[in-house]
Amino acid sequence: MKMQIVRAKDPEEAGRLAADVFAAVIQAKPACVLGLATGSTPLPLYRELIARNARGELDFSGVRTANLDEYVGLAPDHPQSYRRFMQENLFDHINIRPENTIVPDGLAADISAMCQAYEQKIAAWGGIDLQLLGIGHDGHIGFNEPGDAFLVPTHRTVLTEMTRTANARFFASENDVPTSAVTMGIGTIMAARKIVMIVTGRDKAEILRRAVCEPVRPRVQASILQLHPDVTLICDEAAAERLPQRNV
Ligand code: F6R
Repeated sequence: MKMQIVRAKDPEEAGRLAADVFAAVIQAKPACVLGLATGSTPLPLYRELIARNARGELDFSGVRTANLDEYVGLAPDHPQSYRRFMQENLFDHINIRPENTIVPDGLAADISAMCQAYEQKIAAWGGIDLQLLGIGHDGHIGFNEPGDAFLVPTHRTVLTEMTRTANARFFASENDVPTSAVTMGIGTIMAARKIVMIVTGRDKAEILRRAVCEPVRPRVQASILQLHPDVTLICDEAAAERLPQRNV
């Protein structure tokens, strides 16, 4: 296993350390392709990227980005859509070209055709250089929920009750959380040349231990990362509580 574990004091430090990895990739390849995530975990990273861009240290003019997932049924400008999240928390504040950012279309009339086109676009860009991940309490990455198999391509998925409850904090009520989403598949994620997973908070400590220390299995989708050749796991002290002291 080649997973590198980097321990940070708190979520802010985890964000700065992740920003260092992003900066190195962007500086080495100004037209790189970044795979991006939404949720609470990446917010310190996005704040740091915005600050470095504002200071002129980081240039996004050639960068392309592909997001992991989107809710089915939400329009791009819906307050809880992941497109809107990306605009508000990153894209509107950096010098990235709008046409260089893609997020799955949750309103597509033909979802499977849209999924195929999404894969083709990433392939046409030359594949993902650096993929950012968080982890769900049920072990999901993207919205690849626990199941009997690892689904390879971008696909439509039904959200688990655990995920809908966790994400209800962003909606008026749990009933308003969409029941399905489109997500990059495990194959799309595993094809990225480099992966950074950020995990913060004590509530993630047990699922992180299971993902990193237990055998690879589709009931804990993040466990597949044990098989990727270049994963950096950046976690704060609370999330790392149940991990072994040494790299695994
Ligand atoms: C988001 C995504 C999800 C989240 C995960 C953790 O695009 O793909 O896998 O990374 O649900 O969410 P937070 O960071 O809100 O705990």
